[in-house]
Amino acid sequence: MITVKDLTRGYAHTVAVNQVSFSVAKGQIVGFLGPNGAGKTTTMRMLTCFLPPSSGTATVAGFDVLEQPLEVKKRIGYLPETPPIYPEMATVEYLRFVGSLKGLSGTDLDKRVDYVVGRCSVADVKKKLLGKLSKGYRQRVGLAQAIIHNPDVLILDEPTAGLDPKQINETRDLIKDLAGDHTIILSTHILPEVEQTCQQVIIINKGRVVATDSVENLQSRGRNAETMVLEVASRSGPLEVARIEQRLKQVAGVSRVSIKNKYDSRAVFETESLMGELKRGDLARVIVESGWDLNELRPASMSLEEIFLQLTGGDPAAQTAEAKPGAAAPGQGESSAAEEPHA
Ligand SMILES: Nc1ncnc2c1ncn2[C@@H]1O[C@H](COP(=O)(O)OP(=O)(O)OP(=O)(O)O)[C@@H](O)[C@H]1O
Ligand SMILES: [Mg+2]
Repeated sequence: MITVKDLTRGYAHTVAVNQVSFSVAKGQIVGFLGPNGAGKTTTMRMLTCFLPPSSGTATVAGFDVLEQPLEVKKRIGYLPETPPIYPEMATVEYLRFVGSLKGLSGTDLDKRVDYVVGRCSVADVKKKLLGKLSKGYRQRVGLAQAIIHNPDVLILDEPTAGLDPKQINETRDLIKDLAGDHTIILSTHILPEVEQTCQQVIIINKGRVVATDSVENLQSRGRNAETMVLEVASRSGPLEVARIEQRLKQVAGVSRVSIKNKYDSRAVFETESLMGELKRGDLARVIVESGWDLNELRPASMSLEEIFLQLTGGDPAAQTAEAKPGAAAPGQGESSAAEEPHA
């Protein structure tokens, strides 16, 4: 559905996006993850035809962003970093306005407005002026305008930024719900957001893609050691922790054993081994054959945070200043006309 090849965009003193390539299959939710200044917004603006690439290509549903921008725009719904707002317009009036710009009219327009009002839960504020809406409702109206023309692709730039925890959950649920009908790219610098919402993740840092993978694969990547977590319990009486530790150390492939938690009749252990050196069945067998119970046996997954820091080589916060020398605060320095998705 989306194919990006060597996409590059420079500004006067910065290469904001540097030879970025990725593709997104139909119906997927992809997280575009990176620290401030990584190039997320710049990439999204190129995909939505608001910024021409310096070099490279991008196609959406088979249409080239440079050569067929009208076809691309028809198929894309865009929620910019700062949602487009006409403060003096009421919610429904605004949605009708965007719908008509997207070519809807008559009963089609009525139906789509009703549909997005329901889908994005803005019925309570139908007649309210946009300038008087809370941030959360403004974000919902932003999503509603993005889907009004039922586009194949949704590009959402930090859709949950600035929302309270309840609104964040509601927005994430809404996005997940929309994924069946639409292909979605959302940007974020919040790691759990990607874990909870997305199937695929593209990690970008300083304008370059540093990893593209499924969330699952990423978690088991970046390390050549494998850590297994085991909870062992005694069938009767106190647990002989030292004996278990000894037994686990004798399992082929295990290089280290540590005791993580100790209770009266159960304990949690971690074993380390080189990737591919250990047979999990051997761990299970040695516990059970020694007369203990194996309550749990699972690989310890690396948090996305650890992966991210490993791939980007440092603290995301520390990179902000470096990546954005003298850059404007979020939301500033981007003319509202340029951000406007249907200008
Ligand atoms: N209009 C502009 N003029 C000059 N430089 C710009 C402009 N817009 C962005 N940049 C620079 O391009 C780089 C990438 O910025 P971009 O806004 O794409 O990052 P981002 O990943 O969206 O960051 P954030 O998480 O802060 O939104 C930054 O170094 C930024 O300073
Ligand atoms: Mg941004």
